[in-house]
Amino acid sequence: MSLFNVYPLFDITPVKAKDIYVFDTNNTKYLDLYGGHAVISIGHSHPEYVKKISDQVSTLGFYSNSIQNPMQVELSEKIETLSGCDDYELFLCNSGAEANENALKLASFHNNRKKILSFKNSFHGRTSAAVAATDNPKIVAPINAQQEVEFVALGDLEAVKTVLEKGDVCAVIIECIQGVGGLDESTTAFYQGLSQLCKANGTLFIADEVQSGFGRTGDFFAFQKHGISPDIISMAKGMGNGFPIGGILIHPTIKSSFGLLGTTFGGNHLACAASLSVLEVLKNESLMQNTRDISDYFISKAQGLPKLKSIKGRGLMLGLEFDFPIAEIRKNLIFKHHIFTGSAKHPNLLRILPPLTIKKEHVDLFIEALKTELDTI
Ligand SMILES: Cc1ncc(COP(=O)(O)O)c(C=O)c1O
Repeated sequence: MSLFNVYPLFDITPVKAKDIYVFDTNNTKYLDLYGGHAVISIGHSHPEYVKKISDQVSTLGFYSNSIQNPMQVELSEKIETLSGCDDYELFLCNSGAEANENALKLASFHNNRKKILSFKNSFHGRTSAAVAATDNPKIVAPINAQQEVEFVALGDLEAVKTVLEKGDVCAVIIECIQGVGGLDESTTAFYQGLSQLCKANGTLFIADEVQSGFGRTGDFFAFQKHGISPDIISMAKGMGNGFPIGGILIHPTIKSSFGLLGTTFGGNHLACAASLSVLEVLKNESLMQNTRDISDYFISKAQGLPKLKSIKGRGLMLGLEFDFPIAEIRKNLIFKHHIFTGSAKHPNLLRILPPLTIKKEHVDLFIEALKTELDTI
């Protein structure tokens, strides 16, 4: 049986990984500034993570959501403490798309509306409502196109106002810093205005923190910089350091009832163990502080790069923008310098999404390699 061919693959086969390095079948060592697409938060194979998951799988790996699972309660308490998002309630699932799907569904149950407002260049996942709210017609199948979605430009508060004042919008869904779209972020005035318009018009505010959450920007959530309180916050990627887990934080104005949401695998014991160890390590190793420090260092070093147009993003969710496509440079970084980086929808943007354990010496290695490549252009 062959594989359904949907991924353009680099010809590299990782077989092991440790902290910020990945090793392939030839034992070649790669510096991982991609983190498997912003997923690796506390570093590959962190010893506490390995121990916690190993212990858990050898005692109880899984049981369904029909029994008591104190690990989910512990996870909710630890997320509350570390994020400072008091009083929200937690629902667990398995991925980013699923988190957004549940967020949108819940908003629709809450206010009995069905229209979504989303933003140009957004990415929210590939399931039904999540993909419809994603600004990429190529991945929206006719079956998804039945959803009613309006797209407006990020930062255009007047356009948001015109749409919301019609009174039929169930939810606004927004990445505070756009990931795949290319690391654009609007102003605090915009996010606060958006939040006020949502409140005034009975629309729920969904912050998609799937990529930017769990410490990646140096704050626990990216929206926190703007002093707003979303109605629903979706999370995934960094939450499990590679173990599939997602979730939504739900403001208590939205009421639960039996059967409203549900999942077989979501919040299972093994997934909770993974996420609990992520939170422990984030706290004990001060990784959000490290994220801020290394981000400052990276930006100061990157400013000296030749041919650089701009530095985008925050924390360790960064992008280097050039006046030309970066595909060739990215390939050379991998095959000549053994450094993984990321790309974006915008062909001129090189994305940097390393584990939050990264140190200055790793930044130096990358800057040197990139300089060499830029000098040949
Ligand atoms: C902001 C954002 N939302 C949602 C998703 C979808 O997450 P998943 O691939 O886990 O379904 C992604 C994935 O890249 C993302 O970046």
